[in-house]
Amino acid sequence: METASFDFGMIGLGVMGRNLLLNMADHGYNTIGFDKDPAKVSSLESFASPGTTVKGVNTLPEMVKQLKRPRKLMMLVPAGPIVDQVINEVLPLLEEGDIIIDGGNSHYTDTLNRIKFLQDKKVHFVGMGVSGGEHGARTGPSIMPGGDVEAWHELKPILEAVSAKVNPPKNEPCVAYMGKGAAGHYVKMVHNGIEYAIMQLISEVYDVMKRSLELTNDELHEIFKKWTEGEMSSFLLEITSEIFLKKDEFTNNRLVDMILDKAGSKGTGKWTSQDAMDLPIPVPTIDTAVSLRDLSVYKEDRAAAEALYKPKIKLATKNKDRIAGQLHDSLFAATIICYAQGLSMLHKASAELNMEIPLKDVVRIWRGGCIIRSSLLELFTFAFKKDPRLSSILLHKKTASLLKKKVIALRRVVSLCASAKVPAAGLASALSYFDAFCSGKLPTNLIQAQRDYFGAHTYQRIDKEGIFHTEW
Ligand code: 6PG
Repeated sequence: METASFDFGMIGLGVMGRNLLLNMADHGYNTIGFDKDPAKVSSLESFASPGTTVKGVNTLPEMVKQLKRPRKLMMLVPAGPIVDQVINEVLPLLEEGDIIIDGGNSHYTDTLNRIKFLQDKKVHFVGMGVSGGEHGARTGPSIMPGGDVEAWHELKPILEAVSAKVNPPKNEPCVAYMGKGAAGHYVKMVHNGIEYAIMQLISEVYDVMKRSLELTNDELHEIFKKWTEGEMSSFLLEITSEIFLKKDEFTNNRLVDMILDKAGSKGTGKWTSQDAMDLPIPVPTIDTAVSLRDLSVYKEDRAAAEALYKPKIKLATKNKDRIAGQLHDSLFAATIICYAQGLSMLHKASAELNMEIPLKDVVRIWRGGCIIRSSLLELFTFAFKKDPRLSSILLHKKTASLLKKKVIALRRVVSLCASAKVPAAGLASALSYFDAFCSGKLPTNLIQAQRDYFGAHTYQRIDKEGIFHTEW
């Protein structure tokens, strides 16, 4: 007879699920995995490190009965109806106190519905963001659980063991409780929005260097490598520098030059923008990144427009090193502004949706393991430790003094891109957001006047309390 000797069960043995389970096994936990695909089940054990306990099973009941109580099960299945399907299948097999975790990129409103559905079923439910891709899942991701506090305390030791660690020898784990309700998935969604924005910025800077400065892939590799070894180090810059070296297996070219310029997306960036609009809170650089991925898909229209308007990219033949330096600083400035937008969104959402998101812990656990990890998160951790209620990271003095120095280059680069005809919507939107955010006075008085003129929508005055309307 099978005994309940397993510490953790995984439903869904795709690369993420499998790797996270193997990671748990590497940390001494007895793990068991289930997938509907028998091939994934049978191959699971072959990936395990020697001396670890990893078992694959072909049915959910087989898995559930071998788990120690309270049972801890995670679903890593595609977001959407499949998650509900799995919950419905596993629920009758569970007992009071058992814990189900949804570790996928679920929309936070789905998570809220699931919390509601499960609240009188006496099992704990945790919506949890996991970032770091397949490699991170195996070696240490950043983990963003939210919701059920009791379940979090039960899960804490295992999640701390498998998460990324920063600041050796302190080895601080990149996992923390992200707040009430669907906070875990909400924080992950905004993480992805920031991810979209930073990727867009990097691609624009690359475009300038490739098409205006006419740098080779080797030169691009060197520049990005130098950047990531300096004050702006980040995971995304690191992988970017490596991408330029990868040779294509079918031609003599570099692989990056053979990849079609149509971007895919699974939707989390779009969700961030949609939800920011609903709050409302401005995240224009994230919006721009989503739009530009969308624009990339219209390749045929873009080609037709290119033939029609014949934009000629202006080449920067002189001062390439100086321009590269400006590109560095402009990317640095715009990246700070992207984080600022995302973090302000979390600040606002936390209050509006009653999630109590601890921003100081969000930036702390983003320092390692996740896709947007960068040296800047260390600075932001200090900022939120000092003032956990900071509404914008742009109001933090140290961040401001860094940004003041870098934003000069962002201004130059945006105007350089405009005159060189290199599209730089992300960089431009970051700069415009910054300029608007720093404007104690905006031209919105005119908008109010227009609204009142055509629709009697009323306005407030600068010199008197009250609501006014004018017959224009
Ligand atoms: C992560 C990533 C990941 C993301 C995918 C693809 O944090 O590990 O954010 O969760 O969903 O990499 O996202 P898109 O297909 O939307 O670009």
